[in-house]
Amino acid sequence: MTGQDEIPPFLYVVVCAAGIAADVGKLITAAREREWQVGVIATPTAMNGFFDTAAVAAATGRPIRSAWRRPGDPRPFPDPDAVVVAPATFNTINKWAAGIADTLAVGTLCEVAARGVPIGVLPCVSDDLAGHPAYQDSLIRLRGMGVRFGQPYQGAGGDEFGWERALDLVEPGRY
Ligand SMILES: Cc1cc2nc3c(=O)[nH]c(=O)nc-3n(C[C@H](O)[C@H](O)[C@H](O)COP(=O)(O)O)c2cc1C
Repeated sequence: MTGQDEIPPFLYVVVCAAGIAADVGKLITAAREREWQVGVIATPTAMNGFFDTAAVAAATGRPIRSAWRRPGDPRPFPDPDAVVVAPATFNTINKWAAGIADTLAVGTLCEVAARGVPIGVLPCVSDDLAGHPAYQDSLIRLRGMGVRFGQPYQGAGGDEFGWERALDLVEPGRY
């Protein structure tokens, strides 16, 4: 993706508490193969057993972030060149659209969207929840902010969760 002398671009991977998060290592591997440096920001709920945090931290070479740093501490990650949210839950999508920054994950998403950083989202939301009017309003609002969405995934029916599609959404010429 980059020339040999360039600094590798930095990707934030935001991980929410959906069952499919157990496979997020596939996304990390694909991103590293595409020459991204990766920093993972997980929601506090996602940190509670939804994926192998030790394995993912090892794969990125950085600690996973889930809480805000203390005042005076250095910023743990560089600014992102792109952000992917995979999997994205009903809860996080709605909070993001509403500007409720009560997790580092949502606070970060609110900030980077304002900076014009490309953001790709792979929702993992059941049909029942996706029919809630607040969710439909959230999608309209986030799309209006320039956020890019992959195909809906309900976690049933044997469909593959298209992890690499998250990268396609934010890489030049692939969206
Ligand atoms: C095993 C399990 C699987 C879940 N899968 C999903 C899911 O696929 N999509 C979703 O929106 N919520 C799912 N939830 C519910 C979320 O974890 C819950 O709404 C939580 O508040 C989301 O927090 P977060 O958005 O901060 O990660 C699941 C919960 C459990 C216990």
